[in-house]
Amino acid sequence: MPILSGDYILSAHEMAGIHEQAFADERPWTSEEFENLISQSNTRSLSVARCFVLGRFVLGELEILTFACAPLDRRQGHASALLLKFLEMASKEGGHSAFLEVASDNLAAIALYNKFAFEQVGCRTDYYKRRDGTCCDALTLQKHLIIGQ
Ligand SMILES: CC(C)(COP(=O)(O)OP(=O)(O)OC[C@H]1O[C@@H](n2cnc3c(N)ncnc32)[C@H](O)[C@@H]1OP(=O)(O)O)[C@@H](O)C(=O)NCCC(=O)NCCS
Repeated sequence: MPILSGDYILSAHEMAGIHEQAFADERPWTSEEFENLISQSNTRSLSVARCFVLGRFVLGELEILTFACAPLDRRQGHASALLLKFLEMASKEGGHSAFLEVASDNLAAIALYNKFAFEQVGCRTDYYKRRDGTCCDALTLQKHLIIGQ
């Protein structure tokens, strides 16, 4: 079972529902897409309340694929608690770094990742296609981990 539980384990259907609420201006990921991801042995996820983080290990790097809190569950420290635990878990599993993409106009998420000392390593121009037809750059962020801690 690749999913690590937080307070409880979310189903693919629940993840899809939270994702749709959290990313209102982007194409929502379907339950099938989540099902496919969580069935893979290198996938990891943690959740608390209606907030979850999902990532996968590739060659010792934890790639954070998505991170979402339902609107009513925000600003209660859930994302911070999950990210702390997720990075600790990655280190303990031998991960040497964490990597993610974030929209350049997503100030809340950028503030969260700054708090955890992620550093910008790149920018993908017009990477995100919004439902209204506009585009937004993706910043690529990375954080080195101390293996085993
Ligand atoms: C980004 C997100 C996961 C943060 O979840 P959260 O549980 O509200 O975050 P926390 O309460 O743990 O806050 C952690 C830090 O994030 C930053 N932050 C969170 N929401 C913020 C906001 N609305 N404005 C500015 N900073 C914000 C702050 O630095 C905060 O630290 P502080 O409380 O000490 O000021 C949530 O806003 C969300 O789901 N957003 C939509 C989906 C998304 O953007 N996901 C990330 C994609 S890369």
